[in-house]
Amino acid sequence: MIQSDLQEYLISIRRYLHQYPELSLQEFETTKFIQKQLQDTGIHVRKTSLKTGVFAQLQGKSPGPTIALRADIDALPIEEQTGLSYASKVKGVMHACGHDFHTAALIGAAYLLKKNQNKLKGNIRFIFQPAEEIGGGAEQVIDDGQLEGVEAIIGLHNKPELPVGTIGLKAGPVMASVDRFRITVKGKGSHAAIPQNGKDPILASSQMVTALHSIVSRNISPLESAVVSVTRITGGTTWNVIPGEVTLEGTTRTFNDRIREEIKGSVQTIVENTVRAYSGEAIIDWFPGPPPVINDTETIETIYQAAQQQGLNTVDPEPTMGGEDFAFYQQQIPGAFVFFGTNGNEDWHHPAFTIDESSLIKASYFLYESALSLLQGFQLKQDKKRELNNEPEWK
Ligand code: NI
Repeated sequence: MIQSDLQEYLISIRRYLHQYPELSLQEFETTKFIQKQLQDTGIHVRKTSLKTGVFAQLQGKSPGPTIALRADIDALPIEEQTGLSYASKVKGVMHACGHDFHTAALIGAAYLLKKNQNKLKGNIRFIFQPAEEIGGGAEQVIDDGQLEGVEAIIGLHNKPELPVGTIGLKAGPVMASVDRFRITVKGKGSHAAIPQNGKDPILASSQMVTALHSIVSRNISPLESAVVSVTRITGGTTWNVIPGEVTLEGTTRTFNDRIREEIKGSVQTIVENTVRAYSGEAIIDWFPGPPPVINDTETIETIYQAAQQQGLNTVDPEPTMGGEDFAFYQQQIPGAFVFFGTNGNEDWHHPAFTIDESSLIKASYFLYESALSLLQGFQLKQDKKRELNNEPEWK
């Protein structure tokens, strides 16, 4: 396949995925489609106990370490409003975060790596991960053993704000930890005109919302980044009755595991003490999501060189308080998560979200070159170590 054919092939793959998006953990047809592309390319698909997601391995010509490349494959419950000729054919479901782009880019990288299998000193693991949007996908992949034997992992996310040919690379934290909380405030309902006979959970909740906002400004160092957002208040049925219960929901974000624990502690302190002042009770349910995405310095340096060689323009991206379950992989092995310029009209999760498809083949080449560079880096390190310790070669 010549380059222009590869570009056309990748665009056709991406458009197919775009027309038939599937929600998290329901990526059945997507899974079959990816398997078929890999098998047609001659790449071995690994066994899995997961119902969706595809895991594959390309064995290099010579033995060496294994590097993983990861794409997420799920779509969102959003009604598409792009007006594109290849818009979603599934009502209320859309690839509005560009995971169709990630999937197609990784299929392209797999094709390039297979074609250059002779150059490979080591192996490539391909991870087409389900359920990124609802969280939990990465943990399932790890529990399924798909990361075993892997030395390092690379993932990318499209970035609508960056032009095509520009890539955002940064060592250290780039995306935040994500925790969700639900606070049930229990008081005692009463007639609106006889408040002295009740314990008003609406007033207690209102004080809580205000007090929770003091965590970032008063408890956390101004040099750290953190967010506490209360995003939902549910309670009451009408205008003249004080309800017995109110529910608050929200999320907390930060880049630092210690701060993450501190915020959780502060939420508990504020909720418990506020509700006590109103003689009520509160139950806090805490749903921890992914930790922060923290990029490994050495891995970033290696793929920075690969990006430069490929002629990509590299920029230092601003970290985002959004989260990514790629972080779970980075708790196991060194990894790098990078932002790939796609020159979109709208931000992620917008119904009119688009991608400039000329970026697609660049993303495939970037993953391909990065994987080669990482393998080479590991090989050099291993050679040095072997020389020093008189150890045998990779087996
Ligand atoms: Ni996404």
